[in-house]
Amino acid sequence: MIPLSVFVSLALIPFTLAQSPSDVALGIAAIEAHFSNAEIVPSLLASFTPSALLNVAFGAAVPPGTPLTQDQVKAAPSLSLTPASSSVTFTGNFTLAMVDAGPVGTNESQGQTRHMLINDVTVAGTNISTTSGVPITAYAGPAPPAGTGPHRYVILLYTQPGTFSPPANLSQAGAGVSVFNFPEYVQTSNLGSLVAGNYFTVEEGTASSSISPTSAVVSSTLSPATSSTTSASSTEVTTKSSNASMTKASVILVLVAPLLAFFF
Ligand SMILES: *[C@@H]1O[C@H](CO)[C@@H](O)[C@H](O)[C@H]1NC(C)=O
Ligand SMILES: *[C@@H]1O[C@H](CO)[C@@H](O)[C@H](O)[C@H]1NC(C)=O
Ligand SMILES: *[C@@H]1O[C@H](CO)[C@@H](O)[C@H](O)[C@H]1NC(C)=O
Ligand SMILES: *[C@@H]1O[C@H](CO)[C@@H](O)[C@H](O)[C@H]1NC(C)=O
Ligand SMILES: *[C@@H]1O[C@H](CO)[C@@H](O)[C@H](O)[C@H]1NC(C)=O
Repeated sequence: MIPLSVFVSLALIPFTLAQSPSDVALGIAAIEAHFSNAEIVPSLLASFTPSALLNVAFGAAVPPGTPLTQDQVKAAPSLSLTPASSSVTFTGNFTLAMVDAGPVGTNESQGQTRHMLINDVTVAGTNISTTSGVPITAYAGPAPPAGTGPHRYVILLYTQPGTFSPPANLSQAGAGVSVFNFPEYVQTSNLGSLVAGNYFTVEEGTASSSISPTSAVVSSTLSPATSSTTSASSTEVTTKSSNASMTKASVILVLVAPLLAFFF
């Protein structure tokens, strides 16, 4: 059974439908709220102020925090970006990573399992292209141990400046899946800014202890995050997300639609 809160957390229509500037601003606010509510901030990342949305598709688009099965995430997702504003461009090289931050409450100082680490990634239009990248660790689908709760798989895209200098044992393709300290890697290898991020969860079996679920993001509590949005668009977002004349049923339908689209 999926609790209502999960549906509410899918109030991220901006990720799946055509994106007006106000949708993108709301989407940025939503992903920031998701990262805080899922405790990715501050346990894995000290802060998160993305300049773009990271759209994740495993076949179909996946809203942030979606619980998925191992089968659904076996093959690498396709990834694209939606810039927060027209002044955001995607030139140069990037580093793309996916790490297992464990279930909520994990002490991240123990490190993260590296499921993907690709250097020299480029962005073609708004598509993230790994074809010319160096797959230090090529995408390896999640397989969390049974009974350990819903693991948070966090996908992050960093700018990779010319001064990038990865540690010797993570500078060549083929490093394989292993535990490393991701925040330390980001810092010591001199990666640039965090452009965009997203996450999903995978759980195997039934949790043997009580683990707090990632909490819901209620879109009506959000306000656009970027200072670059015009006041006109922020007004529009506020109005839209608090449209009291929408019936409860239509709200739930709108929220569930992306999920249905994904599973059927
Ligand atoms: C990007 O990476 C390629 C190697 O794949 C390198 O030749 C090029 O100089 C890099 N570009 C920048 C802007 O760092
Ligand atoms: C996390 O683990 C480290 C040791 O690896 C410990 O020093 C630290 O206190 C722990 N943090 C929390 C919040 O439990
Ligand atoms: C981006 O990806 C989509 C879907 O795979 C594709 O149709 C489109 O041509 C790509 N755009 C660029 C600029 O590569
Ligand atoms: C790389 O070396 C560091 C020490 O510099 C070590 O802690 C880490 O486990 C090594 N990682 C791999 C993938 O071998
Ligand atoms: C609010 O909802 C009503 C009816 O559902 C609709 O006519 C109106 O355009 C909506 N307003 C906004 C700002 O979305």
